[in-house]
Amino acid sequence: MAHTRGRIRAAAGVLAAAALTTAMFATGANAAERDVAGSAAPPIVGGEPAQIEQSPWVVFLTDPMGNQFCGGTIGAANKIVTAAHCVEGTNPMELRVVAGREDKTTSEGTVAAATDVWVHPDYQSATSGADVAVVTLDRELPQPPLPLATTADTAAYQPGREAEVFGWGATSEGGESSDVLQRAVVPVTSDADCSSAYGEYDPAAMVCAGYPEGGVDSCQGDSGGPLVADGKLIGIVSTGNGCARPGYPGIYTRVSSYESEVRAQLAAQR
Ligand code: ARG
Repeated sequence: MAHTRGRIRAAAGVLAAAALTTAMFATGANAAERDVAGSAAPPIVGGEPAQIEQSPWVVFLTDPMGNQFCGGTIGAANKIVTAAHCVEGTNPMELRVVAGREDKTTSEGTVAAATDVWVHPDYQSATSGADVAVVTLDRELPQPPLPLATTADTAAYQPGREAEVFGWGATSEGGESSDVLQRAVVPVTSDADCSSAYGEYDPAAMVCAGYPEGGVDSCQGDSGGPLVADGKLIGIVSTGNGCARPGYPGIYTRVSSYESEVRAQLAAQR
């Protein structure tokens, strides 16, 4: 059976050919020219809008002006799980979380302010692992949290296992971010395939997902958002070489490896 070809598009330019990027705010002036993977493709490469009601735990992060720059997942009523590289060094006062809003151009849902940001103590850069953070909100969200994958969830990480990724990021490499929530299905990649693509791949800290031929991937602006299998958060959008390039799957934080530490943060009263 044919896979659903979805690709989550996002906004960032300035991608050196072989460079791993963790660009967050870059809205490339030369975005169109840099659209490597999508240059011969129609404007929406199998992009699939998703309904927020079907994935109510997906949220996005904004600056105080309301500009979306990353995704996240509700982990507890007043806690968001996201990528460390999205929020590292960010003053909580400068951070907002939007829940229950499928279309960024509307004002539906809830806008919560951050009161605290926990970044994993081992985090240095997305390419060295521990790319996970927990944001505490000033209120409880009405939407349900998504459970974290644990070390017992081995089936969810089996190579070939189809997982879903969600976000409002770029819909092509170097392209513009999406106004509406997008969803794509990507198979989990084996550790061997991911290490041959990325020398820095650490199977204890990361998991890859994508098709060998590329074409479907998360992208800039999707960082921090969820990779979901078996109804659990198995990955956090972290990094990758470009977006949807053949031979370069997306790299996600392996949630099961950090589950106990994240769970402790989700339970922390602050
Ligand atoms: N680092 C990007 C961000 O901050 C996400 C990149 C994901 N790349 C990929 N090929 N899956 O939004």
